[in-house]
Amino acid sequence: MSLHHGVSVSERQRQAPGLISYLGPADLEAQFRRDALEGLSAVHKSIPSKWFYDYTGSMLFDEITRLPEYYLTRSERQILSRRAATIVQLTRAEAMVELGCGLSEKTRVLLDAFRRRGNLKRFLPFDVDSEVLKMAATELLDRYPDLEVQGIVGDFERHLSAIDVPERSLVIFLGSTIGNLNPLQRNALLTELSGSLKPGDCLLLGVDLIKEVELIKAAYNDSAGISAAFNLNMLNVLNTRLGGNIDVDAFTHIARFNPQTEQMEMFLRSARPQRARLEAIDLDVEFARGEQIHTEISAKFRKQGIEAELRDASLEPRRWWTDKDQYFALSLSVRI
Ligand code: SAH
Ligand code: TRP
Repeated sequence: MSLHHGVSVSERQRQAPGLISYLGPADLEAQFRRDALEGLSAVHKSIPSKWFYDYTGSMLFDEITRLPEYYLTRSERQILSRRAATIVQLTRAEAMVELGCGLSEKTRVLLDAFRRRGNLKRFLPFDVDSEVLKMAATELLDRYPDLEVQGIVGDFERHLSAIDVPERSLVIFLGSTIGNLNPLQRNALLTELSGSLKPGDCLLLGVDLIKEVELIKAAYNDSAGISAAFNLNMLNVLNTRLGGNIDVDAFTHIARFNPQTEQMEMFLRSARPQRARLEAIDLDVEFARGEQIHTEISAKFRKQGIEAELRDASLEPRRWWTDKDQYFALSLSVRI
């Protein structure tokens, strides 16, 4: 490291690049307050899952991806490693946009393949959590000094039509995060995304598949208790950001499979009756014994179903790849 010219190269590279922000801290706070007020005043209480991801939540999710029970990340990485060169060849992308990037860890498999034989110039990671985005962007700048990295803070349910998707883009949406949306929300997202793409642009979508229910349930009820900690952290987010006094220890993590809708459903259940106050939104909220707050769904997919959803949004499925156990799939589609 050179100490002679003020900021050394490695220090400069360690600084995150400027982020484009569609969600300034004030908008984020306003949206969070609206969602909390509405969700906790309803007969069936709920909080949208995007609010899991404060700094602690993002770090807990990163731990989840390494749990033995959480097969999703390993299966998806296996497919990416096997197909990366083909993805480079088929898409010939010059820019890549990643929705809900988190730490963009698996993405390196693709970036490495593009570096070996592609022509990728720009990478645009997009996430609602500015902290995790800064960490991802800093790390990527270090690893790929020739790549132009531009982080975007936004809500993929609201800001997709606002983002300027470059020519010859590949959009990637990994981790089965699309399964955290209900069918109507998925249709809205895919339609909005498709509208921002040009014909020939591609979408690489990761989806968790229907399989033996016990395997799915175990991924959300791990023995180390990290999934529970991740779910319960939502209550810390409420307390910290809204000046609340919810007794987090009185809640338990519930994750069950709904066979009708073929989705995991996550809740926080109050073990005893309690009353809490959230000062910042002037809300007194009561929880009956056993009452649940709904926090997340995680839909599990079949090939036919998700491909029909893609077609509905003018995205034509071209490839379907699974891991050797057929736990997870990557779908590559093209905007027609
Ligand atoms: N892509 C990574 C991380 C998945 S976790 C992986 O596959 O492992 C889901 C990520 O999506 C988190 O980083 C979270 O902050 C982000 N996210 C969730 N809801 C979002 C929303 N509405 N808009 C933008 N990002 C969102
Ligand atoms: N996107 C992740 C998924 O659907 C979210 C998640 C993983 C999650 N484990 C959890 C949400 C436990 C709540 C509780 O797999």
